[in-house]
Amino acid sequence: MKRHLISAADLTRDDALLILDTADELARVSERSIKKLPTLRGRTVVNLFYEDSTRTRISFEAAAKRLSADVINFSAKGSSVSKGESLKDTALTLQAMGADAVVIRHGASGAPHRLATWVDGSVVNAGDGTHEHPTQALLDAFTMRSRLGALDGRRITIVGDVLHSRVARSNVLLLHTLGAEVTLVAPPTLLPVTVQSWPCEVSYDLDAVLPKADAVMMLRVQKERMNDAYFPSAREYSRRYGLDRDRLARMSEDAIVMHPGPMNRGMEIAAEVADSPRSTIVEQVANGVTIRMAVLYLLLGGETQ
Ligand code: NCD
Repeated sequence: MKRHLISAADLTRDDALLILDTADELARVSERSIKKLPTLRGRTVVNLFYEDSTRTRISFEAAAKRLSADVINFSAKGSSVSKGESLKDTALTLQAMGADAVVIRHGASGAPHRLATWVDGSVVNAGDGTHEHPTQALLDAFTMRSRLGALDGRRITIVGDVLHSRVARSNVLLLHTLGAEVTLVAPPTLLPVTVQSWPCEVSYDLDAVLPKADAVMMLRVQKERMNDAYFPSAREYSRRYGLDRDRLARMSEDAIVMHPGPMNRGMEIAAEVADSPRSTIVEQVANGVTIRMAVLYLLLGGETQ
């Protein structure tokens, strides 16, 4: 494996499978009443969050602690960042403190890439702007694999605000590496112009694609990144691209429903679909801890090339 995890494209098929298999092993630890392993004792993991986060931040912290690493949580609010300190100066401070890994979430696409040039430790991208979120893609793949078996030839449909979604981009790359066939479904205004070069199909017709899917991943409509009108109204969006009870009924019986969270219930996904037994949304959160343990273990404690 490479020293940093910045893009899902950093992972070869073997790397990705190693992470998933390691997570399978570590999942057993999470089932025990004492959830701790001594593996990363004496190592320091810094969580550097410039953007809001619930699941990702908590799960990186839980993952590092379950491996006995020392964890430093840094959030831009309440730090010298609000006094205008640059990412570089913050990075040099972390470097001086001897961080073995820096987990970074940042509003600017490319921030983790820059950070990696300033620190000696491993950099893990926990979401950068609209660019990538590789550990989310890994936990999604882990969830799909545990529900559906090997991903080769599986048909995965990703629906919604692809334009602003780092989750979609990382998922397309990783799922392609793992041999799955991905179809993106979105209104044309919510697809990036570069989508033609992505290793996936594109459709504007959710109802045509749904019956063939093994997994349907709904994306949040990212209102905070929208300064224009991308669709006529929330109602119109849900009517064409929302997953409601009727659409769920048209999916294959074993197909699963996924969402990275946070959800706009009633917009991209109906509450009853989100809470249905077909939904893996809560499972995805639990798997997030396991996958992040596997990533930290392999970057810091395991065998590296
Ligand atoms: C996503 C993110 O922040 O990129 N959430 C997550 O990490 N679980 C998706 C989103 O914000 O919609």
